[in-house]
Amino acid sequence: MLAALKPKVTSILEDSEKSVENRLGDVCKLLRESVSYYDWVGFYFKNGEKEELKLGPYAGEPTDHTIIPFGKGICGQVAVSNENFVVPDVAAQDNYIACSINVKSEIVIPLFMNGENIGQIDIDSNTSDPFTADDERFLEFVNEKVAEIL
Ligand code: SME
Repeated sequence: MLAALKPKVTSILEDSEKSVENRLGDVCKLLRESVSYYDWVGFYFKNGEKEELKLGPYAGEPTDHTIIPFGKGICGQVAVSNENFVVPDVAAQDNYIACSINVKSEIVIPLFMNGENIGQIDIDSNTSDPFTADDERFLEFVNEKVAEIL
């Protein structure tokens, strides 16, 4: 099922008629609409030279967390660990920033450009423990494709 989305992701990202911002937003929308347990899908990017993440394009409810310091929350931890972070139950996390009371689980996959961690894709789910290795591999693919157009 996730595999079937790959060509769609690729064709959205390759459409150079649109701004990068709009293409990333369209990818977020596609993912959110296509995967039942993806309830909020967004990109965060390193904010210039600052040790913080800034919210980029997203699909889902607006969030107050448009700036996240490195080390804070799941996103901030991935900014420094450079590793995928799969959270089956957000209530079990001490270092977690809640965006909505409905969120039960989260997955954050770092986005690398020339080997450097420059951002991430973040997905919140209202379902408990829905993410598998397939989600990790799929979202790594999405980030690799995004890196090609940045
Ligand atoms: N839950 C994230 C914050 C970002 S929102 O999910 C949109 C975290 O703990 O870093």
